[in-house]
Amino acid sequence: MKPVLVWDIPTRLFHWLMAASFLGAWLSSESDQWLSAHAFCGYLLLGLIGFRLIWGFAGGYYARFSSFLHSPLSGLAYVRQMVAGKAKRYIGHNPAGSQAIFLLLILGLAVTVTGIFTLSGEEQQASFGIRLSVSLGRMFKEGHEAVAGLMLLVVVGHIAGVAVESYLHKENLARSMITGLKAASVDEPISRPYRLVSLILALAVVAFGIWWFFYALHQPIEKALGLQEGAISKPNVAFVGEKLADNARWREECGSCHIAFHPNLLPERSWRKLMAGQEHHFGADLGLDAPTNQALLTFLVTNAAERSNREAAFKINRSLKPEATPLRITETPYWIKKHREIPEADWRLPSVKSRANCGACHQDAEAGTFEDGAMQMPR
Ligand code: HEC
Ligand code: HEC
Repeated sequence: MKPVLVWDIPTRLFHWLMAASFLGAWLSSESDQWLSAHAFCGYLLLGLIGFRLIWGFAGGYYARFSSFLHSPLSGLAYVRQMVAGKAKRYIGHNPAGSQAIFLLLILGLAVTVTGIFTLSGEEQQASFGIRLSVSLGRMFKEGHEAVAGLMLLVVVGHIAGVAVESYLHKENLARSMITGLKAASVDEPISRPYRLVSLILALAVVAFGIWWFFYALHQPIEKALGLQEGAISKPNVAFVGEKLADNARWREECGSCHIAFHPNLLPERSWRKLMAGQEHHFGADLGLDAPTNQALLTFLVTNAAERSNREAAFKINRSLKPEATPLRITETPYWIKKHREIPEADWRLPSVKSRANCGACHQDAEAGTFEDGAMQMPR
């Protein structure tokens, strides 16, 4: 027995990057505030799986699919032998481990594809030109969460298997995945990746990295730093999502006392009621003449919540009972639900004062987009 290179460097890098992206995606899945990080982990995972599918044919002996094509039944039999404490030692992947790998590749593909559909639908952040409705996006989100749960189960099973194996055969399998070495007899095959394919893959990774940085990554970086698109020289300007319908007259007439609340934040019936009562507008008389009132109403109604593809508009509208006609965005159930965890003291901060002062916490309130990345709680 002597140390033999079993896991080639790309296989090891793949393994740990996949573990990191999966962990990162789980940690960032709780709040929409970390959505960009979450999506980044997802795209990384997708790229890694793409690599592994090629490496399964071009990698070193033990990385090739042909070296661990075990049937699910033999995988189960192996688990039984493990429980009984007399499982055979494999230099490469054992039958149970190989099932975990195939499952993780399939589930990883499913989780990233459903994630991309969720992003395209719910957040209207199109990737690869995919555009879905908000409600379709929500359906994919259910699937996305279910697949992620399954994947976690397989990961836990995989880690448990590695622990039991390491104990049974008195070797540190996790360490082998770092050093690449395992003790083997001299006649075992050696891991030798195809040089040419490795070179082409390495070049592809570098080219992709450059592309990613210049064409894709500059946006998340600006977003993370709170910069406007392509405006690194203008700090503290929020990331603003897809541009919404705008109207100069509306901005002028409805944006003087407070921010001009975008029409997509309330349904048509609310705008009609609000504009019909313009002389008693929350204690103020707007004093609009009939043509102006009509022009503003047309803009408000044309772009009301039920006609918008934005997540917030969709959810505000859905949260309302048909008989409810709120005059305040801050009285809609969705708004209340989204803001109920904010402590009372924060509402009284001098920079906030009113719940209607959306701009105090949402840097894109004027644009009406309310992107997760543009949120910044005042201190
Ligand atoms: C003369 C000042 C003034 C003008 C002009 C004005 N508003 Fe208001 N608006 C107010 C005040 C005051 C409130 C209550 C703000 C608060 O509770 O902090 C308010 C609140 C609102 C709210 C409810 C915000 C919430 O709590 O969710 C909406 C919606 C609204 N205005 C729409 C409009 C529209 C549409 C126009 C243009 C047609 C307009 N406002 C023009 C003074 C004004
Ligand atoms: C004191 C700060 C504060 C103010 C003022 C405020 N919000 Fe928010 N808002 C938040 C926070 C924090 C969240 C995130 C809650 C979460 O993590 O789910 C949020 C979430 C939202 C969301 C959901 C975003 C998403 O996609 O998940 C919308 C829409 C929204 N706010 C609209 C408004 C509007 C409209 C106003 C003004 C009428 C407003 N907010 C005023 C702090 C504020």
